[in-house]
Amino acid sequence: MMDLPAIPPAQGDTPGTRAAETAGGPVPPPPAGPSDAAARARLARLMARGAAFLGSEVAVMGGAMSWISERNLVAALSNAGAFGVIACGAMEPPRLAEEIAATQALTDRPFGVNLITMHPRLDELVQVCLDAKVGHIVFAGGIPPTPAIRKAKEGGAKVVCFAPALALAKKLVRSGADALVIEGSEAGGHIGPVSLNVLAQEILPAMAPEVPVFVAGGIGRGEAMLSYLEMGAAGVQMGTRFVCAAESIAHPNFKKAFIRGAARDALPTVQLDERFPVIPVRALQNEGTRRFLEHQAEVIRRHRSGELDKAAAQLDIEHFWAGALRRAVIDGDVENGSLMAGQSVGMVNGEAPVAEILAELTAQAAAAVAARAG
Ligand SMILES: Cc1cc2nc3c(=O)[nH]c(=O)nc-3n(C[C@H](O)[C@H](O)[C@H](O)COP(=O)(O)O)c2cc1C
Repeated sequence: MMDLPAIPPAQGDTPGTRAAETAGGPVPPPPAGPSDAAARARLARLMARGAAFLGSEVAVMGGAMSWISERNLVAALSNAGAFGVIACGAMEPPRLAEEIAATQALTDRPFGVNLITMHPRLDELVQVCLDAKVGHIVFAGGIPPTPAIRKAKEGGAKVVCFAPALALAKKLVRSGADALVIEGSEAGGHIGPVSLNVLAQEILPAMAPEVPVFVAGGIGRGEAMLSYLEMGAAGVQMGTRFVCAAESIAHPNFKKAFIRGAARDALPTVQLDERFPVIPVRALQNEGTRRFLEHQAEVIRRHRSGELDKAAAQLDIEHFWAGALRRAVIDGDVENGSLMAGQSVGMVNGEAPVAEILAELTAQAAAAVAARAG
C-alpha cells in the first residue's frame, strides 16, 4: 500500500473549523491519529489502480497544457508523486525529443507525453516517444488512427485516449487503448459539449470495469476527486489547478489572471454564425475574446458582400487565435492572448509548489473520507 503525502489538513478544511473561526472561538486542531491514517489508507486504496497504471504515488495526472506542461512542471509533478504529461502541441519531432530528454534529466519517475492526433508528423512523434522509452502516450484532439495506437503499444508504451462519448470509449478500447480520459466541458482549453458530471455517469459504470478511466474538467478540490474515485474513476486529471504552481513557467501576468479569475469568467468561445463553425475553447474573457466577436462579424460581412469566399472566410476566422496561447503564457500579453482556463480557476488562489497543491488536495480528500466514516 502506498503512502499519500503525510501533510496535515489545510487550515479551514476541517468540518467545523470555519464556523469556529467565524464565531471567533478557538480553532480545533486538525484531525490526526488513527482516523486520519485510516482515511488516507482508504484514499490510497481508491487510487491504487490508477497509481499502479501510471507508476505514480497518487492517481493524479497533470493535464497536458501547451506551453505550460514542459520539463519543469512535468518533472515537478512526477517528483511530487503525481504524473506529469508533456504537451507536445505543435512541436516537431526533434524539439519533442529535446523536451523529453530535458524532463528525464529532472526526474527519474514516470511521466507521459500528450500528442495531438491531427499533427502531420504523428507517426514520427510516436517513434520519438518510443526511442526515449516514454512509458505512456496520451492521444488527444480527436480519435487516434488505429496504426498509431498499435505502433505505440508494440513499442512498449501504454496508450491513453480521450473518450468523448460511451460508444467511442468502447471503440477506443477495442482499438487497444489501455486507459481512458473523460474530460467534461468544465475543462480549460478545447472542450466538448458534455459536462463531467454526465460523462462520468454515462461512461464510468460501463468502462471502469474494463480499463482505468481518469476524469478531467472542473476538479479543483480533494472532495470532488474523492467523489469521482468513489464512482469508479481510477484517478483524476487536472490542468487549471497546476497553472500557478511555483514550478510552472507561465508568465506572472498569466498566473495573476488565474488568481483573479472566477468560474464565471472562464467561458467557451462564442460562435456568431453556424455556417462558420468555431471550435469551442474555454478561456478567461479579455480584449482578445471581445475582438474575436468583432472579427467574426467583420469576416461574415465581407463574405456576404462577396469579398471573401466561404473557405477563405472560415480560414480567416480559424487563424484569429493562431499563436494566441503562446502570447499569453510566454509573453504575458493577457489582454490579447488566449487565457485558456477551466471553471476550476476560481479555486486557484495563489502560487504554490506542486507538492503543496497535491498535499492540499489529498488532505481535503482524506478529510472527506473521515467525515463520511462519521
Ligand atoms: C492552458 C491550457 C492548455 C491546454 N492545452 C492542452 C493541450 O495542449 N492538449 C490537451 O490534450 N489538453 C490541453 N488542455 C486540457 C488539459 O490537459 C486538461 O484536460 C484540463 O485542463 C482539465 O480540466 P481543468 O482545467 O478543469 O483541470 C489545456 C488546458 C489548459 C487550461
